[in-house]
Amino acid sequence: MVPATLERTTFEVSREVEYFTESELRMQIGFDADDWPVALLKELIDNALDGCEAAGTPPIIRVDVEPDAFTVEDNGPGLPEATIAGSLDYMKRVSDKLFYASPTRGRLGNALKVVWAAPYVAHGQQGYVEVWTGGQRHTVKVRFDRIAGRPVVEHETKEDALVTTGTRLRVTWPESATSLLGEGTRRSYKSAPNASELVAAFAACNPHAGFRIGEKVFRATDPAWTKWRTCDPTSAHWYAPEALRDLLAAEISSPTYQAQPKTVRAFVSEFRGLSSAVKQKSVTAEWSRAYLHDLVRGGDLDSGAVGALLARMQLASKPPKPVHLGVIGEEHVTRWMTEHAGVVPESISYAKKLGEQDGLPYVLEFGFGQSEDDNAKRRLVVGLNWSAALENPILELNQLLAKQRIDAHDPVVVFAHIAKPLLQFTDRGKARVAL
Ligand SMILES: Nc1ncnc2c1ncn2[C@@H]1O[C@H](COP(=O)(O)OP(=O)(O)OP(=O)(O)O)[C@@H](O)[C@H]1O
Ligand SMILES: [Mg+2]
Repeated sequence: MVPATLERTTFEVSREVEYFTESELRMQIGFDADDWPVALLKELIDNALDGCEAAGTPPIIRVDVEPDAFTVEDNGPGLPEATIAGSLDYMKRVSDKLFYASPTRGRLGNALKVVWAAPYVAHGQQGYVEVWTGGQRHTVKVRFDRIAGRPVVEHETKEDALVTTGTRLRVTWPESATSLLGEGTRRSYKSAPNASELVAAFAACNPHAGFRIGEKVFRATDPAWTKWRTCDPTSAHWYAPEALRDLLAAEISSPTYQAQPKTVRAFVSEFRGLSSAVKQKSVTAEWSRAYLHDLVRGGDLDSGAVGALLARMQLASKPPKPVHLGVIGEEHVTRWMTEHAGVVPESISYAKKLGEQDGLPYVLEFGFGQSEDDNAKRRLVVGLNWSAALENPILELNQLLAKQRIDAHDPVVVFAHIAKPLLQFTDRGKARVAL
């Protein structure tokens, strides 16, 4: 008898599954499922701050934790409906930050996707997120069809005047309050902060922003304070030829470009220090009137042309100085330590270091103080590009603390902040940083 042969079926596995298994999502978020609520809260606060800064509005952020939900509300420009719709397409990433080199709070272009998907992945029940913005209320329900291997997304929009300015986003999450406000083991310095500690850390890094969580209010100490914003022109000095190539390729393939192609000169004009007509003319002399797609040769961007363009752009503009990134400053750090971290005022010391590493500017700031409460444990508050870090991502800081003989039981508060373009995160969840 001839043995039966297997007629193999060719299966297709969708990339969408990347957001819908616990192991994949853990990799994207960079933390175990227990810490997802606080990790999502961080992403939502990042977005809220970025949105406000782009609109030139001093940010006022409100965080609410209910027994079964958490909410972030801002006074920014509002989350555009098209962005919500785009972020629900799990086949592609949407972000206005991808490919630009600058000191940003994050540059993955997937936080919203994770926010819609995570409640389902963590609890196996249909995810439920509400977004109030622009006089509308969006409800986003997401689950995963395990047979088809595809997400099932329901997005409904209704008129609702609750929020006309800014964005309010509410994530339904069973036992939010327990996981976000709970104390106990989570308060050890190794585990992620709770929601109040997270908001306190954001307040420490952002002098221009006001925050509120429950009854606790952190007032902006300097609403006019400025930093490098996500919407500020990026510097040609922060790109290697490959990075500029990627940005050019992304430009050419974007829907905006398809509708209206950009000239090389218009592209150049978007960079820091290259806005004057004279500079644009001299930088683009070789490509006068050329469009970006004219730099394509044989199916890719011509590497000679990209290299030459980058060299000219760098020559014609000055590299930004560390101080241009933004310095939080002694006054804000001191006020935060005394008003919000229970530190003895006389014990506070502050230090900063402005410098350059691998051709990139950086600003390091440190604050140190003795807790008023002798029984308090050491509290580490770390910020990266004006965003709260969920755990200490700086190995060097641990070494420094060991050298100073400050251990986990000492009643001290240590604040550390790094601002640097292109912080090299060693994971996609932006939790650990390579210095
Ligand atoms: N609160 C908000 N106000 C205004 N716009 C927002 C808000 N939240 C999100 N957006 C817009 O939605 C886009 C997608 O947000 P998302 O967090 O998914 O990506 P990102 O912030 O660009 O990158 P990352 O993944 O690093 O956070 C943002 O680029 C921004 O344009
Ligand atoms: Mg984001």
